[in-house]
Amino acid sequence: MIIVLLGPPGAGKGTQARRIQERYGLPQISTGELFRAAMGRESPLGRSVKGYIESGRLAPDEVTSAVVAERVAEPDCRKGFMLDGFPRTLPQAQALDALLAARRLPLDAALYFDVTDEVAVERLSGRRMCSKCNENYHERHLPPKQAGRCDRCGSALTQRPDDKPDTIRKRLQVYAQQTRALVEEYDRRGLLRRIASDQAPEKVAASVASMLDKILALRSAAAPALRSAAASAGEEESARSSLP
Ligand code: AP5
Repeated sequence: MIIVLLGPPGAGKGTQARRIQERYGLPQISTGELFRAAMGRESPLGRSVKGYIESGRLAPDEVTSAVVAERVAEPDCRKGFMLDGFPRTLPQAQALDALLAARRLPLDAALYFDVTDEVAVERLSGRRMCSKCNENYHERHLPPKQAGRCDRCGSALTQRPDDKPDTIRKRLQVYAQQTRALVEEYDRRGLLRRIASDQAPEKVAASVASMLDKILALRSAAAPALRSAAASAGEEESARSSLP
Protein backbone atom coordinates (compact mmCIF):
# COMPACT_ATOMS: atom_id res chain seq x y z
CA MET A 1 0.00 0.00 0.00
CA ILE A 2 1.28 3.47 -0.86
CA ILE A 3 -0.33 6.49 0.76
CA VAL A 4 0.28 10.20 1.08
CA LEU A 5 -0.57 12.16 4.25
CA LEU A 6 -1.72 15.69 3.47
CA GLY A 7 -2.75 18.54 5.74
CA PRO A 8 -1.57 21.78 7.30
CA PRO A 9 1.23 21.95 9.85
CA GLY A 10 -0.16 20.71 13.16
CA ALA A 11 -2.96 18.65 11.59
CA GLY A 12 -1.61 15.52 13.31
CA LYS A 13 0.05 13.82 10.31
CA GLY A 14 3.13 12.73 12.25
CA THR A 15 1.09 11.51 15.23
CA GLN A 16 -1.12 9.36 13.00
CA ALA A 17 1.81 8.23 10.82
CA ARG A 18 3.39 6.57 13.84
CA ARG A 19 0.15 4.72 14.58
CA ILE A 20 -0.21 3.63 10.95
CA GLN A 21 3.37 2.39 11.00
CA GLU A 22 2.67 0.33 14.12
CA ARG A 23 -0.62 -1.11 12.88
CA TYR A 24 0.22 -1.79 9.23
CA GLY A 25 4.02 -2.01 9.27
CA LEU A 26 4.18 0.70 6.62
CA PRO A 27 7.41 2.74 6.82
CA GLN A 28 6.84 6.45 7.48
CA ILE A 29 8.78 8.74 5.19
CA SER A 30 8.63 12.22 6.67
CA THR A 31 10.51 14.78 4.62
CA GLY A 32 10.52 17.10 7.66
CA GLU A 33 12.16 14.40 9.81
CA LEU A 34 14.68 13.53 7.08
CA PHE A 35 15.63 17.20 6.84
CA ARG A 36 15.88 17.62 10.63
CA ALA A 37 18.06 14.51 10.89
CA ALA A 38 20.34 15.90 8.15
CA MET A 39 20.48 19.23 10.02
CA GLY A 40 21.41 17.38 13.21
CA ARG A 41 24.30 15.67 11.38
CA GLU A 42 25.27 19.01 9.80
CA SER A 43 25.50 17.21 6.46
CA PRO A 44 25.57 19.20 3.18
CA LEU A 45 21.83 18.48 2.79
CA GLY A 46 21.19 19.69 6.37
CA ARG A 47 23.13 22.88 5.77
CA SER A 48 21.33 23.52 2.49
CA VAL A 49 17.80 23.26 3.97
CA LYS A 50 18.39 24.79 7.43
CA GLY A 51 17.48 28.35 6.39
CA TYR A 52 14.24 27.22 4.73
CA ILE A 53 13.07 25.14 7.68
CA GLU A 54 13.91 27.66 10.36
CA SER A 55 12.07 30.42 8.52
CA GLY A 56 9.03 28.23 7.73
CA ARG A 57 9.54 28.16 3.95
CA LEU A 58 9.59 25.08 1.75
CA ALA A 59 12.87 23.51 0.72
CA PRO A 60 13.42 23.50 -3.07
CA ASP A 61 11.37 20.94 -5.01
CA GLU A 62 14.36 19.23 -6.69
CA VAL A 63 16.15 18.72 -3.37
CA THR A 64 13.03 17.37 -1.66
CA SER A 65 12.05 15.05 -4.50
CA ALA A 66 15.60 13.66 -4.68
CA VAL A 67 15.57 12.93 -0.94
CA VAL A 68 12.28 11.04 -1.31
CA ALA A 69 13.47 9.07 -4.36
CA GLU A 70 16.54 7.96 -2.45
CA ARG A 71 14.56 6.93 0.63
CA VAL A 72 11.91 5.04 -1.34
CA ALA A 73 14.64 2.96 -2.99
CA GLU A 74 15.57 1.42 0.38
CA PRO A 75 14.57 -2.24 0.95
CA ASP A 76 11.99 -1.55 3.69
CA CYS A 77 9.84 0.32 1.11
CA ARG A 78 9.53 -2.66 -1.23
CA LYS A 79 6.07 -3.60 0.03
CA GLY A 80 4.78 -0.07 0.37
CA PHE A 81 5.29 3.15 2.28
CA MET A 82 3.59 6.29 3.52
CA LEU A 83 4.72 9.78 2.65
CA ASP A 84 4.22 12.25 5.50
CA GLY A 85 4.52 15.84 4.29
CA PHE A 86 5.36 15.03 0.68
CA PRO A 87 4.28 16.15 -1.87
CA ARG A 88 3.64 19.79 -0.93
CA THR A 89 3.68 21.42 -4.36
CA LEU A 90 2.42 20.46 -7.79
CA PRO A 91 5.97 19.85 -9.12
CA GLN A 92 6.56 17.49 -6.16
CA ALA A 93 3.30 15.67 -6.96
CA GLN A 94 4.51 15.28 -10.55
CA ALA A 95 7.87 13.97 -9.32
CA LEU A 96 5.99 11.42 -7.21
CA ASP A 97 3.87 10.37 -10.20
CA ALA A 98 7.03 9.82 -12.25
CA LEU A 99 8.70 7.87 -9.46
CA LEU A 100 5.69 5.57 -9.05
CA ALA A 101 5.18 5.18 -12.81
CA ALA A 102 8.82 4.10 -13.21
CA ARG A 103 8.17 1.31 -10.71
CA ARG A 104 4.65 0.54 -11.98
CA LEU A 105 3.22 1.23 -8.56
CA PRO A 106 -0.18 2.81 -7.93
CA LEU A 107 -0.87 5.48 -5.31
CA ASP A 108 -3.67 4.05 -3.13
CA ALA A 109 -4.87 7.19 -1.37
CA ALA A 110 -4.12 10.68 -0.14
CA LEU A 111 -5.34 11.04 3.45
CA TYR A 112 -6.22 14.65 4.14
CA PHE A 113 -6.13 15.63 7.83
CA ASP A 114 -8.48 18.54 8.07
CA VAL A 115 -8.17 21.09 10.92
CA THR A 116 -8.74 24.81 11.27
CA ASP A 117 -5.78 27.22 11.56
CA GLU A 118 -6.83 27.92 15.14
CA VAL A 119 -6.48 24.27 16.15
CA ALA A 120 -3.20 23.94 14.23
CA VAL A 121 -1.67 26.95 16.02
CA GLU A 122 -2.73 25.65 19.42
CA ARG A 123 -1.26 22.21 18.70
CA LEU A 124 2.04 23.47 17.34
CA SER A 125 2.57 25.96 20.17
CA GLY A 126 2.17 23.17 22.76
CA ARG A 127 4.12 20.48 20.88
CA ARG A 128 7.20 19.00 22.51
CA MET A 129 9.51 16.47 20.82
CA CYS A 130 11.89 13.92 22.22
CA SER A 131 15.41 15.06 21.40
CA LYS A 132 16.47 11.44 20.83
CA CYS A 133 13.67 9.24 19.46
CA ASN A 134 11.42 11.98 17.98
CA GLU A 135 8.33 10.84 19.91
CA ASN A 136 5.92 13.75 20.00
CA TYR A 137 3.91 15.16 22.90
CA HIS A 138 1.64 18.06 23.63
CA GLU A 139 1.69 20.07 26.84
CA ARG A 140 -2.06 19.66 27.26
CA HIS A 141 -3.35 16.96 24.90
CA LEU A 142 -0.58 14.36 25.09
CA PRO A 143 1.57 15.16 28.14
CA PRO A 144 4.45 12.86 29.07
CA LYS A 145 4.15 10.87 32.31
CA GLN A 146 7.13 12.75 33.75
CA ALA A 147 7.32 16.46 32.89
CA GLY A 148 9.97 17.24 30.28
CA ARG A 149 10.98 13.56 29.76
CA CYS A 150 10.13 11.11 26.98
CA ASP A 151 7.96 8.14 28.05
CA ARG A 152 9.75 5.86 25.58
CA CYS A 153 13.43 6.59 26.18
CA GLY A 154 13.61 9.07 29.08
CA SER A 155 15.45 11.74 27.05
CA ALA A 156 14.74 15.47 27.36
CA LEU A 157 11.81 16.99 25.47
CA THR A 158 12.44 20.10 23.38
CA GLN A 159 10.47 22.55 21.27
CA ARG A 160 11.04 22.52 17.51
CA PRO A 161 12.68 25.78 16.39
CA ASP A 162 9.96 26.24 13.75
CA ASP A 163 7.20 26.00 16.40
CA LYS A 164 7.72 29.65 17.42
CA PRO A 165 4.63 31.89 16.84
CA ASP A 166 6.02 33.87 13.86
CA THR A 167 7.28 30.74 12.09
CA ILE A 168 4.00 28.90 12.72
CA ARG A 169 2.13 31.78 11.04
CA LYS A 170 4.54 31.68 8.11
CA ARG A 171 4.18 27.87 7.71
CA LEU A 172 0.38 28.15 7.64
CA GLN A 173 0.63 30.89 5.02
CA VAL A 174 2.99 28.77 2.91
CA TYR A 175 0.61 25.80 3.24
CA ALA A 176 -2.33 27.93 2.01
CA GLN A 177 -0.32 29.31 -0.92
CA GLN A 178 1.58 26.24 -2.07
CA THR A 179 0.10 23.01 -0.70
CA ARG A 180 -3.65 23.41 -0.34
CA ALA A 181 -4.09 23.09 -4.12
CA LEU A 182 -2.97 19.45 -3.83
CA VAL A 183 -6.13 18.66 -1.87
CA GLU A 184 -8.18 19.57 -4.96
CA GLU A 185 -5.73 17.78 -7.25
CA TYR A 186 -6.02 14.45 -5.40
CA ASP A 187 -9.76 14.93 -5.01
CA ARG A 188 -10.03 15.35 -8.79
CA ARG A 189 -8.15 12.08 -9.22
CA GLY A 190 -10.53 10.28 -6.84
CA LEU A 191 -7.74 9.56 -4.35
CA LEU A 192 -8.59 11.99 -1.57
CA ARG A 193 -9.89 10.66 1.76
CA ARG A 194 -10.90 13.41 4.20
CA ILE A 195 -10.38 12.86 7.90
CA ALA A 196 -11.83 15.19 10.50
CA SER A 197 -8.65 15.66 12.52
CA ASP A 198 -10.19 18.01 15.04
CA GLN A 199 -10.92 15.11 17.42
CA ALA A 200 -9.02 13.12 20.00
CA PRO A 201 -6.03 11.21 18.53
CA GLU A 202 -7.75 7.81 19.18
CA LYS A 203 -10.85 8.90 17.21
CA VAL A 204 -8.72 10.14 14.33
CA ALA A 205 -6.78 6.86 14.41
CA ALA A 206 -10.04 4.89 14.26
CA SER A 207 -11.19 6.81 11.14
CA VAL A 208 -7.81 6.25 9.52
CA ALA A 209 -7.85 2.51 10.30
CA SER A 210 -11.33 2.11 8.89
CA MET A 211 -10.27 3.81 5.64
CA LEU A 212 -7.05 1.84 5.30
CA ASP A 213 -8.80 -1.46 6.06
CA LYS A 214 -11.22 -0.73 3.19
CA ILE A 215 -8.33 0.03 0.83
CA LEU A 216 -6.61 -3.22 1.79
CA ALA A 217 -9.84 -5.20 1.32
CA LEU A 218 -10.28 -3.70 -2.16
CA ARG A 219 -6.68 -4.50 -3.01
CA SER A 220 -6.97 -8.13 -1.98
CA ALA A 221 -10.27 -8.47 -3.89
CA ALA A 222 -8.52 -7.11 -7.00
CA ALA A 223 -5.35 -9.19 -6.53
CA PRO A 224 -6.35 -12.30 -8.60
CA ALA A 225 -7.31 -10.13 -11.59
CA LEU A 226 -4.06 -8.15 -11.31
CA ARG A 227 -2.02 -11.36 -11.06
CA SER A 228 -3.64 -12.82 -14.17
CA ALA A 229 -3.12 -9.54 -16.09
CA ALA A 230 0.54 -9.56 -15.02
CA ALA A 231 0.86 -13.23 -16.05
CA SER A 232 -0.62 -12.56 -19.54
CA ALA A 233 1.69 -9.56 -19.92
CA GLY A 234 4.58 -11.87 -18.99
CA GLU A 235 3.48 -14.51 -21.55
CA GLU A 236 3.24 -11.88 -24.28
CA GLU A 237 6.67 -10.57 -23.28
CA SER A 238 8.25 -14.06 -23.38
CA ALA A 239 6.51 -14.84 -26.73
CA ARG A 240 7.93 -11.56 -28.12
CA SER A 241 11.42 -12.29 -26.82
CA SER A 242 11.42 -15.81 -28.41
CA LEU A 243 10.73 -14.31 -31.88
CA PRO A 244 13.77 -14.35 -34.18
P1 AP5 B 1 7.28 18.85 8.76
O1 AP5 B 1 8.15 18.28 9.78
O2 AP5 B 1 6.66 17.97 7.76
O3 AP5 B 1 6.21 19.74 9.48
P2 AP5 B 1 4.68 20.08 9.09
O4 AP5 B 1 4.10 19.56 7.87
O5 AP5 B 1 4.68 21.55 9.21
O6 AP5 B 1 3.89 19.27 10.04
P3 AP5 B 1 4.11 19.17 11.55
O7 AP5 B 1 5.13 18.12 11.86
O8 AP5 B 1 4.37 20.52 12.15
O9 AP5 B 1 2.66 18.76 12.02
P4 AP5 B 1 1.90 17.38 11.96
O10 AP5 B 1 0.74 17.51 11.06
O11 AP5 B 1 2.85 16.24 11.71
O12 AP5 B 1 1.37 17.34 13.44
P5 AP5 B 1 1.85 16.45 14.68
O13 AP5 B 1 1.36 15.07 14.53
O14 AP5 B 1 3.28 16.67 14.99
O15 AP5 B 1 8.08 19.96 7.91
C1 AP5 B 1 8.92 20.90 8.55
C2 AP5 B 1 9.59 21.78 7.49
O16 AP5 B 1 10.41 20.97 6.62
C3 AP5 B 1 8.65 22.53 6.54
O17 AP5 B 1 8.18 23.73 7.09
C4 AP5 B 1 9.58 22.76 5.34
O18 AP5 B 1 10.49 23.80 5.60
C5 AP5 B 1 10.36 21.46 5.28
N1 AP5 B 1 9.69 20.45 4.44
C6 AP5 B 1 9.12 19.28 4.85
N2 AP5 B 1 8.57 18.63 3.82
C7 AP5 B 1 8.79 19.39 2.72
C8 AP5 B 1 8.43 19.25 1.36
N3 AP5 B 1 7.72 18.20 0.91
N4 AP5 B 1 8.82 20.24 0.50
C9 AP5 B 1 9.56 21.28 0.92
N5 AP5 B 1 9.90 21.49 2.22
C10 AP5 B 1 9.52 20.55 3.11
O19 AP5 B 1 0.95 17.13 15.84
C11 AP5 B 1 1.19 18.46 16.27
C12 AP5 B 1 0.93 18.55 17.80
O20 AP5 B 1 -0.46 18.28 18.06
C13 AP5 B 1 1.71 17.52 18.63
O21 AP5 B 1 2.05 18.10 19.84
C14 AP5 B 1 0.70 16.38 18.87
O22 AP5 B 1 0.97 15.71 20.06
C15 AP5 B 1 -0.63 17.14 18.91
N6 AP5 B 1 -1.73 16.37 18.34
C16 AP5 B 1 -1.69 15.58 17.24
N7 AP5 B 1 -2.90 15.07 16.97
C17 AP5 B 1 -3.74 15.57 17.94
C18 AP5 B 1 -5.14 15.42 18.20
N8 AP5 B 1 -5.91 14.65 17.42
N9 AP5 B 1 -5.66 16.09 19.25
C19 AP5 B 1 -4.87 16.88 20.03
N10 AP5 B 1 -3.54 17.05 19.83
C20 AP5 B 1 -2.98 16.41 18.80
